[in-house]
Amino acid sequence: MNMRWFITSLVITAFFCNSPVYVYDNNPLQDICVAVNDSQASVFVNGKICKDPKLATADDFFASGLNVSGNAVPVVGVAATFVDVSKMPGLNTLGMSIARFDWEPQGQNPGLVMIPRSIFASEPPVPDDILAKGFQLDETQIAELRKKFS
Ligand SMILES: *[C@@H]1O[C@H](CO)[C@@H](O)[C@H](O)[C@H]1NC(C)=O
Ligand SMILES: *[C@@H]1O[C@H](CO)[C@@H](O)[C@H](O)[C@H]1NC(C)=O
Repeated sequence: MNMRWFITSLVITAFFCNSPVYVYDNNPLQDICVAVNDSQASVFVNGKICKDPKLATADDFFASGLNVSGNAVPVVGVAATFVDVSKMPGLNTLGMSIARFDWEPQGQNPGLVMIPRSIFASEPPVPDDILAKGFQLDETQIAELRKKFS
């Protein structure tokens, strides 16, 4: 029985060792980690110091100002209003922020660029060796990415 368990473990380990590696941020250790500037706080996660979750309030997840147009930058004709963890402490460790852009009439249209498509399916194509070096992948992996995005 122990030998069977050992072989099963070995097969599972071998399977995962031969699989491609996927890298991503760790899951948050707790659902929320409201940021505070309190150096005495004792709860730390992978961002700013966390408020005791029991003390979090709805206001920690609210930011004012996104309902109001920003002041457009002259010439460009665009105003940008950002909300990050400094304006909405509840965003801490969630890996997101919020932005509002207002374009004046005749302001510069930013268009839309799909970055993966621009990189892996551009015409003319970016050479494989450059992509492989840039992303620290081998050319087989680059070919797979090209297939996905073209
Ligand atoms: C924007 O929202 C705030 C509340 O956060 C409110 O006091 C203000 O009147 C709103 N402004 C506009 C232009 O809707
Ligand atoms: C923490 O302090 C910085 C700098 O004083 C400030 O900009 C920020 O809004 C503060 N953040 C919180 C969550 O109080």
